[in-house]
Amino acid sequence: MATDGPRGASAGRHEQALLAKARDRSALIGIVGLGYVGLPLAVEFAEAGYRVLGFDVTPRVVDGINAGHSHVQDIPTSRLAKLVKAGTISATTDLMRLKEPDCVAICVPTPLSKTRDPDISFVSAATDSVAQTVRPGQAIVLQSTTYPGTTRELMLPALEKSGLKVGEDFFLAFSPERVDPGNAKYNTHNTPKIVGGVTAACTRVVMALYQPAIETLVPVSSPEAAELVKLLENTFRSVNIGLVNEMAIVCDKLGVDVWEVIDAAATKPFGFLKFTPGPGVGGHCIPLDPHYLAWKMRSLNYRTRFIELAGEINAEMPEYWVEKVVSALNERGKPAKGSVVLVVGVAYKKDIDDLRESPALDIIKLLERLGAIVRYHDPYIAELREDGRILKSVPLTAEAVRNADCVVIVTDHTQLDYAMLSKEAKALVDTRHAVASRAAAT
Ligand SMILES: NC(=O)c1ccc[n+]([C@@H]2O[C@H](COP(=O)([O-])OP(=O)(O)OC[C@H]3O[C@@H](n4cnc5c(N)ncnc54)[C@H](O)[C@@H]3O)[C@@H](O)[C@H]2O)c1
Repeated sequence: MATDGPRGASAGRHEQALLAKARDRSALIGIVGLGYVGLPLAVEFAEAGYRVLGFDVTPRVVDGINAGHSHVQDIPTSRLAKLVKAGTISATTDLMRLKEPDCVAICVPTPLSKTRDPDISFVSAATDSVAQTVRPGQAIVLQSTTYPGTTRELMLPALEKSGLKVGEDFFLAFSPERVDPGNAKYNTHNTPKIVGGVTAACTRVVMALYQPAIETLVPVSSPEAAELVKLLENTFRSVNIGLVNEMAIVCDKLGVDVWEVIDAAATKPFGFLKFTPGPGVGGHCIPLDPHYLAWKMRSLNYRTRFIELAGEINAEMPEYWVEKVVSALNERGKPAKGSVVLVVGVAYKKDIDDLRESPALDIIKLLERLGAIVRYHDPYIAELREDGRILKSVPLTAEAVRNADCVVIVTDHTQLDYAMLSKEAKALVDTRHAVASRAAAT
């Protein structure tokens, strides 16, 4: 539970100063890591009336932002350029300037290592940079998804080495990022945001600073609770996707249409939440984040069985779909070896340009391993690297579809011509039920 320590005159002074700077928007906001999470956050703070100084270790990212160019699909260049021109957003690679902001939000990557353990090196590096320059009157907020305990066990000791006291001289909180790239309804501004401070004063200060930029803030009692909220949300998705993926396999074996079953189940007005099967899970969150919790719990001698099982089922889906491609080819008397397979959609989900952890990559690899000649089309991803080679997206023409021995829809981007695909494809494997659901809708 976040409680205030003894509150001397100075504790109140720094808290009051930050609350005042939030009220009149004179606080300078620093954002460390200007990617999918950091850049939209920077824009929200700037549009709320703050000045924002962004930090990134990649000069290309910093130069692009300073030129008013957005590299994040959800932020149109016109929106960013206006703020850069007005002088409300600027960016730098100079991490010594971290002493300038009143509030520093850390939005750096938290991937997995080769052995699928948390790779916390980016958070550690960002913490070290902030710790070198931390000064009285700064609020520091970790937004990167991570295991419970990171804020208190990793960040707090590094920051307190400065001799400053948390909750009095500086303020530290965890506030998970929930942004859903490509979501037309919910964005950084209108998605409720959890805040868990190390002390109650930390929560108050961070809530006050974020309040002008974020519509709804939800305080929790500790950074650990906030860290776990994010992991619960993504584990919930991973487990439910794993469940419907297993149900897809079950229905297939029983000769029942899984989509009919799911749609009918979804008519229940209570106690059921619709999830849909597919080629597996991708992106920077669902395939990775639950492993942060599993890893932490292993260190406490507890095995998180749901996480492991869902991870296994989801990871096996590309293989399941490749088997479907092989059967479809077989029905036409063709072996996989030497057949042309056109993969439609390679982004990890529809209408976005993010390829990270996409199941399409596994599907392509498995097909190539069988000797298939793989081509792909994705309106959002012009090229991708596969085993050191560069594959380029081919135009989705009727001719390209006819020239393939099998077409496999992996990502159901809205703008694709599904009627043409179903008309022209010699064989079609649809991992997303995209053709049938579009046909039903018309
Ligand atoms: N992308 C999403 O949809 C999403 C959603 C919710 C949560 N998250 C979480 O948010 C965090 C950030 O993810 P992202 O998708 O924005 O990553 P990203 O790769 O798009 O951006 C991260 C940026 O941080 C920069 N960076 C790395 N180390 C740095 C350092 N030491 N100092 C300054 N800059 C540094 C990189 O150059 C990069 O530009 C992750 O923990 C992720 O799990 C992401």
